[in-house]
Amino acid sequence: MKIAVAKGDGIGPEIMDAVLGIFKAANVGLEYEFVDMGKWVFDKGYSNGMTPEAQQTIETLGILFKGPMETPKGKGVKSVNVTARKTWNTYANKRVFQTLHGVDTVFSKAGIPIDITVVRENIEDTYGGIEHMLTHDVALSRRFITRPGSMQVIKYAFEMARKKNAKRITCGHKANIMKITDGLFLECFHEVAKEYPEIKSDDVIVDDLCMKLVTRPDLFDVVVLTNLQGDIVSDLCAGLVGGLGFAPSANIGDHICIFEAVHGTAPDIAGKNIANPTALLLSGLAMLRHLGLMESAATVENALLYTLEKGVRTGDFGDRSKPALNTTEFSNAIVANFGKLPEQGAKPTWPNMPITPTTFKLEKNPLIMSKEMEEETIVGVDMFIESAEQPGEVAEKCLKHTLDLFKLVTISNRGTQVWPKGSIFTNLVNQYRCRFESIGDAPLSQIDIIELYKRLGQDFKICSTELLNMWGDKKAYSLAQGQ
Ligand code: NAI
Repeated sequence: MKIAVAKGDGIGPEIMDAVLGIFKAANVGLEYEFVDMGKWVFDKGYSNGMTPEAQQTIETLGILFKGPMETPKGKGVKSVNVTARKTWNTYANKRVFQTLHGVDTVFSKAGIPIDITVVRENIEDTYGGIEHMLTHDVALSRRFITRPGSMQVIKYAFEMARKKNAKRITCGHKANIMKITDGLFLECFHEVAKEYPEIKSDDVIVDDLCMKLVTRPDLFDVVVLTNLQGDIVSDLCAGLVGGLGFAPSANIGDHICIFEAVHGTAPDIAGKNIANPTALLLSGLAMLRHLGLMESAATVENALLYTLEKGVRTGDFGDRSKPALNTTEFSNAIVANFGKLPEQGAKPTWPNMPITPTTFKLEKNPLIMSKEMEEETIVGVDMFIESAEQPGEVAEKCLKHTLDLFKLVTISNRGTQVWPKGSIFTNLVNQYRCRFESIGDAPLSQIDIIELYKRLGQDFKICSTELLNMWGDKKAYSLAQGQ
């Protein structure tokens, strides 16, 4: 069984060598094809951080085990980590956070056990990285939350919760503020929940969720979130069980899966052979189980848990009165403990059932659509314009161009209505959203919108536009604050 391996940057090669050494000692029976990804590949001029050969190998083998990779700062290039997740549609990022005996935390000292699995949506949200400066003062990021994308990850989370007999699955969100985007994610969650009546499901607003996770982490089991909120909440959970050195992650897709630690390249300790390889090792164990190598995974995990229980440690955790081992010594200690069982949390040893990763030959890009296209009517347009004038002056110019088709309904600045009503205390920036709707709700065509665009363009720079659509009697857009 062959998998692709990218050692990564910074501490990547050190911890990857340590983990592959442990796998070798455990005879896991994997073959590795090493691929070129990371900072030095960017430096060679590959703008996506990987060579075409690396892409081809990963697409053929279907499994990538990777070390952390650095994104060069300020060179206009995108993170290779995010590119890999998005390119190969690894839509679910599963991160398991468990109390590890020997890794002291405030909760372990208080006898409160933690076993939380965070499932983070992995390819949408603001991670699309679609950003523009609309004026010299105003930046815009587009946040995509899609129905098929949300359904994919939420179904994965429920299926995983069912398999692990989870007592609870919770959706973290901010649908009280982002009613359309997070509202869609939450709607999908409740829709999928109906198919799993045996699992207790609920939703919690993400700020409240953070507070509850740090006060009563033992009450949570599986938590599913959108991408950015999931990123933040999962680092918070890593803190609950001892820090980033203990946070593994699996990026799951239908065709390709990527296994990596949550932490980055740790440039401050790179090259010193002192990094903690546990998070990458735990990610590797998730990969072994994904490949059906249950027995090998249990042998290594029991040895790891036994080693931690005995107080063996690298410098980033544990009892400071005991000496810290370096990366090589720490991994040698794990190998020396093969065959030993920890007193607490020993893993059952099922026989290996090797599953060769399926190789897929796709003829065209899969299009995921959860609903047929619906009848929709254009009833207006939001024109985002640049102006340093007062709202009344902007409105006066807009009203010159409404033709017989449009009425000017509202003008807002950073989402807050400033015309026809507003407050003199609202601070302004030099960019307004002017909302035009059709007179008498008559349907509009795109040509009508272009006509308005041409006319309005005589007075303003138009930075961006969004159509206002109706689906039946449902508005497919939000109201301005105060509208
Ligand atoms: P980081 O996770 O690399 O480091 C944060 C802190 O944790 C540092 O003090 C570091 O020494 C410590 N640390 C991290 N892993 C450790 C380990 N295994 N053992 C002991 N201590 C450890 O985060 P930072 O500094 O924000 O990012 C550095 C670089 O890593 C950036 O270029 C970033 O883009 C990249 N990065 C890559 C990721 C990936 O490949 N999936 C994820 C996160 C960041």
